[in-house]
Amino acid sequence: MPKVLVLYYSSYGHTETLANAVAEGARRVPGAVVDVKRVPETAPEAVARAAHFKLDQAAPVATPQELANYDAIVVGSPTRFGRLTSQMASFWDQAGGLWASGALNGKVGAAFTSSATQHGGNETTLFSLITNLLHFGMVIVGLPYSHQGQMTLEEITGGAPYGATTIAGGRGERQPSQIELEGARHQGELVAKTAAKLFG
Ligand SMILES: Cc1cc2nc3c(=O)[nH]c(=O)nc-3n(C[C@H](O)[C@H](O)[C@H](O)COP(=O)(O)O)c2cc1C
Repeated sequence: MPKVLVLYYSSYGHTETLANAVAEGARRVPGAVVDVKRVPETAPEAVARAAHFKLDQAAPVATPQELANYDAIVVGSPTRFGRLTSQMASFWDQAGGLWASGALNGKVGAAFTSSATQHGGNETTLFSLITNLLHFGMVIVGLPYSHQGQMTLEEITGGAPYGATTIAGGRGERQPSQIELEGARHQGELVAKTAAKLFG
């Protein structure tokens, strides 16, 4: 049965909420074993506290070596200037041994993100994550239009064919909407289904 890791970084909890929705969707696949883990905070504690980071997150902290234990890895990071966070980049930068040995070649990868604004770089952030995963040899699953919610014009919504997204607002005042959460679940389910097909 497929082993799925939802690996995320989140300063203010929006990406954390999406990560839990991705995991919920992956658990819809019978037999799937799904872990949610986060990468270490690298900002100095004083900086993190001054910026009001959400430091009490339930997910355990992952180590790069653990990545090889999974059939699928879904990676979530908020946008930083249109690309992934340094916290997430630092984590993958420490996984060079896995890259060198090809330990993740052929595994399933996927990306999700949060940005403050609708056009603040969520798609480029997804591609910065996907680029990273492709370098590790992973096969990418996006968020197809079978998640119909991304088509809506009735409300502002995240979600792109490249991965689940949410829009947090300039002060983090908006939380993931029902459509965005369903997108994250849809992507998680598709990742687990794909891993089940590839790895049984
Ligand atoms: C240094 C920094 C750079 C950011 N750059 C962008 C950006 O380029 N575009 C954008 O829409 N939001 C930007 N944001 C806002 C974050 O993406 C937002 O706080 C995040 O999506 C919230 O997710 P989280 O609660 O998981 O941390 C930036 C935030 C910080 C702290």
